[in-house]
Amino acid sequence: MAGTYSLQQYVSDLKEITAETTDEKNIISRVSPLAERLVADKSWLQQTYYEADEEQGFGVHLLHEEPDHTLAVLIVNWLPGRGTPPHDHGTWAVVAGVEGTERNIRYKRLDDGNRPDYAELKVKHEFNADEGDVVSIKTGGIHAVVNETNNMTLSLHTYGKHINYTNRSQFDLETNEKKEYIVRVE
Ligand SMILES: [Fe+2]
Repeated sequence: MAGTYSLQQYVSDLKEITAETTDEKNIISRVSPLAERLVADKSWLQQTYYEADEEQGFGVHLLHEEPDHTLAVLIVNWLPGRGTPPHDHGTWAVVAGVEGTERNIRYKRLDDGNRPDYAELKVKHEFNADEGDVVSIKTGGIHAVVNETNNMTLSLHTYGKHINYTNRSQFDLETNEKKEYIVRVE
């Protein structure tokens, strides 16, 4: 099926799936193989997607979002040795590897969530996500992504809603501080 699946078709399929169901597990299970199919065909890749933000450590490029910010499709590139703090998304996430290997660290929350700016996290498991691999995260799932390689990595991210509009959080493992997480998008 290589060479026949476009970003436009992907977005149209996302709309169809989310019109049919609001069940997150169902959405993720249906979106994941489509994301895998889209990254297998790299014809949509553009040179600008490799432009990173030195300060942030990664570059985020918006490919699509609906007028209400739902169904956001982004390309994220990661500079060598850089990554994100632990964070959640405030929505479901499906991430498909486009180039290179990204280290994923999944966290479990230990506290009861009663304090608004506080969270205790513990590493649940870690794994490498390679080119073509699809990683999904349910709403509330916490992870960090790190590029431990010497080359830039690239992945395709699909979210139920654009992550700068979900009121999601980043977590500081040293201070247990939980705060707003907004990323710079090109
Ligand atoms: Fe994430």
